[in-house]
Amino acid sequence: MDLTMRPRRLRKTEGLRRMVRETRVDAASLIYPMFVMDGKDKVEPIEAMPGQYRYTVDRLGEIVDQLGEAGVNSVMLFGIPAQKDPVGSQAYAPDGIVQRAIGRMKMLNPELFIVGDVCMCEYTSHGHCGVLCGCEVDNDKTLPLLAKAALSQVEAGADMVAPSDMMDGRVRAIRETLDANGHTDTPIMSYAVKYASSFYGPFREAAGSAPAFGDRRGYQMDYHNRLEGIKEALLDVEEGADIVMVKPAMSFLDIVRDVRERVNVPVGAYSVSGEYAMVKAAAAQGWIDEEKIVCEMAVSAFRAGANVYLTYYAKELARFIREGRIG
Ligand code: PBG
Repeated sequence: MDLTMRPRRLRKTEGLRRMVRETRVDAASLIYPMFVMDGKDKVEPIEAMPGQYRYTVDRLGEIVDQLGEAGVNSVMLFGIPAQKDPVGSQAYAPDGIVQRAIGRMKMLNPELFIVGDVCMCEYTSHGHCGVLCGCEVDNDKTLPLLAKAALSQVEAGADMVAPSDMMDGRVRAIRETLDANGHTDTPIMSYAVKYASSFYGPFREAAGSAPAFGDRRGYQMDYHNRLEGIKEALLDVEEGADIVMVKPAMSFLDIVRDVRERVNVPVGAYSVSGEYAMVKAAAAQGWIDEEKIVCEMAVSAFRAGANVYLTYYAKELARFIREGRIG
């Protein structure tokens, strides 16, 4: 056969494949999302997310140790408060659950990079991501509360804040509040392109944050839309976002690529609870190879253009990377 190009030449050996590899992953790009809850001496398993737990503040040492051993340097915290109310006041209470957890984790490991998720849905009695006006989430009334929540997390020691509420103008509101209080150097990673997705199902069980009525389609994005994702990302950069994130990851890698090509800031991709649950469930049946699937999902997010990857598999991935079992 007279073939000039034989792509198989470069696939011949493991060494050659590694030499010409286009995508490489690094544990420094991983963020581990995790749940902290009010109470004492509890590490509660999350049913739909086997291997993930809700920690009370006094038990955080266990996970901080595990992260250290695994080589994961960043976490993102979600809080589950003892009490919820219509205006989500525990989201911005100086002694709220996330604020206390941040303080404790910083004490346990000052090197740990802590991201605070900023949203109202875990803290409101109705489970929506902002305050209500009738049955609607009131965008503009929610902004000052989000800014207050972000500020309280930064004052508690958070290294970065990540608004996930999808209110318009929240990046600007948070930036202005942080700056006015002297936190000009604290970055914002916005959930810029967050779709209304059924992949969040297990998270809502984990955080007890399912909306009491209706759904989130009035503020989270319609998953049929691509251009709108670019619009959201550009808007957030303009408002001062330092990193823009796309969420979920796996079914939205086209959007990760689109956003990567349009912005000049780092792009995050969040492999959400439903992605994790599906892999765990299939692996438990012996239907898939968990490690290989997890590596393939991570590499595909980076290949799509992500610079930062948020995943409940961060500890395992960091280990696979260290042991040279992933690119
Ligand atoms: C809070 C928030 C959610 C997730 C991250 N931040 C839930 C939601 O929007 O309903 C989902 C994360 C996951 O599924 O892993 N608004």
